[in-house]
Amino acid sequence: MLLDLQHIYKDYYGDKQLVVPVLKDVSLQVEEGEYVAIMGPSGSGKSTLMNIVGCLDHPTKGTYTLDNKDVLNLKDRALSDVRLNSIGFVFQQFQLMPRETAVENVSLPLIYAKVDRQERKRRAIKVLEKVGLGERCYFKPTQLSGGQKQRVAIARAIVNNPKILLADEPTGALDSKSGKQVMELFQKLNEEGVTIVMITHDKKVANHAKRILYIVDGKIYTSEEEAMANAE
Ligand SMILES: Nc1ncnc2c1ncn2[C@@H]1O[C@H](COP(=O)(O)OP(=O)(O)OP(=O)(O)O)[C@@H](O)[C@H]1O
Ligand SMILES: [Mg+2]
Repeated sequence: MLLDLQHIYKDYYGDKQLVVPVLKDVSLQVEEGEYVAIMGPSGSGKSTLMNIVGCLDHPTKGTYTLDNKDVLNLKDRALSDVRLNSIGFVFQQFQLMPRETAVENVSLPLIYAKVDRQERKRRAIKVLEKVGLGERCYFKPTQLSGGQKQRVAIARAIVNNPKILLADEPTGALDSKSGKQVMELFQKLNEEGVTIVMITHDKKVANHAKRILYIVDGKIYTSEEEAMANAE
């Protein structure tokens, strides 16, 4: 099992020690090569779960092994290595460095991975070609369309050959044509063996995945009917 999260709880603390339970006993298992979509209403806990899966946040309770590593008990340094080598993250708002070219944006994880300059450039260009942006390598984000920016972000997410690609509303800021291109790219990556977990509000987008899960009010369900039946 590539991802194995068991009995995950996440509480946030609001004003006056008010406890806000956001994830309530969520278990999630994802095998290598899977393509999973997570749907659910706004505020249901999707991004909270994704941030835990991506090792960007820590649950209040529960266990999580990623590629057989107990990631909740790793030291900072080892955890950074996991994030760098095993996980690629794609966000709704791209999160590119605005003043840097596509090549420089895609090279960033390779700098952390201590790959030398020439090799960085070679690999960044190769992966930009793969996402269909071979002609845009030296464009900056302001000179790219939304769909192109997202493809740069995807190139950055996969340049280090992660085990898993996590995407939080990857098509949320895109028109339907660019969204479709991003979905085609995800399809291709999944066929090449990349495991994908993606959050989306859009049923059409979710239908590209091989399995759809639903989060309602901090709990996870395997069918929409079940989710609806348990919604308050
Ligand atoms: N840092 C925080 N402190 C306190 N509460 C938080 C924090 N982050 C999120 N929450 C709360 O957790 C709940 C779930 O938030 P989350 O971002 O996971 O929702 P979501 O399902 O991703 O929603 P959306 O579809 O709108 O992105 C919300 O009610 C939110 O107010
Ligand atoms: Mg969210």
